[in-house]
Amino acid sequence: MAGVELKTAVVTGATRGIGLAIADALVKAGARVLIGARNQDSLDSVCARLTSSGGSVSAQMLDLSDFGSIDTFCDAAREEFADLNILVLCAGTYEHSAWDMQMTDALRLAMNVKVLGNARLAENVLPSMSTTDGHIVFINSSIVRGDGKGNPAHAASQHALRSMADSLRASVNAKGIRVTTIYPGKTATPRQASIATAAGRQYQPDDIIQAEDVALAVLQCLEFPHRTEVTDLHMRQTKKV
Ligand SMILES: NC(=O)c1ccc[n+]([C@@H]2O[C@H](COP(=O)([O-])OP(=O)(O)OC[C@H]3O[C@@H](n4cnc5c(N)ncnc54)[C@H](OP(=O)(O)O)[C@@H]3O)[C@@H](O)[C@H]2O)c1
Repeated sequence: MAGVELKTAVVTGATRGIGLAIADALVKAGARVLIGARNQDSLDSVCARLTSSGGSVSAQMLDLSDFGSIDTFCDAAREEFADLNILVLCAGTYEHSAWDMQMTDALRLAMNVKVLGNARLAENVLPSMSTTDGHIVFINSSIVRGDGKGNPAHAASQHALRSMADSLRASVNAKGIRVTTIYPGKTATPRQASIATAAGRQYQPDDIIQAEDVALAVLQCLEFPHRTEVTDLHMRQTKKV
């Protein structure tokens, strides 16, 4: 397997949940990692935690709803790594939506962060991606396999994100850059805890996918020999409810 040791990586949404687990796994595997999210205190504390065991981590504020913030983040990424091997696009907010409750407001927010924000970041970082072993990983969602009834705005933005990853793959594969989309089902993160609380449901994290499981999937996709690309990987909890 081609390991990730000494490779350069950018991980968005790395201050908690799935993004944090991915950054942690990459650091433990010996990668040099730049993390991004909106909250500076969280970035500082994650950075301190991941570097305490000798890892190479730096942090830069990033707000995917703001092109200025994205451009500043990409400048920092270019300064940190002239040659970028791995880009993991994991950041995102979750807005509840329904067709009978201001669907367009939630849709605007979701499209702004997930689709426009990630597109801006990807196009900005692309010229720095390594053409010998560059790899872009999108963290999408199992919602793309359903009809989106539970959350139409979220579903629409995740479908758009999938399409964006597919068209990016078609454009960059010939340059030697791989693109993988991972579609996790319900995963035990702070987001899932707050969704359960808002719905008045008991939160039972032990029965669902763990953030570390998604990180393991990301690491395995990265570690395939570069001649092979995992395009799409769907993950669901074993005991369906
Ligand atoms: N948990 C699940 O069940 C599940 C299932 C399928 C897919 N996913 C996907 O996996 C990804 C991570 O989910 P999660 O559950 O780990 O979420 P989470 O616990 O809410 O963490 C989200 C991360 O993204 C950052 N973030 C949020 N809005 C941002 C913005 N506008 N700009 C930059 N960073 C932002 C957050 O930090 P700040 O708030 O400080 O910015 C945080 O680091 C999401 O894209 C989600 O759609 C999650």
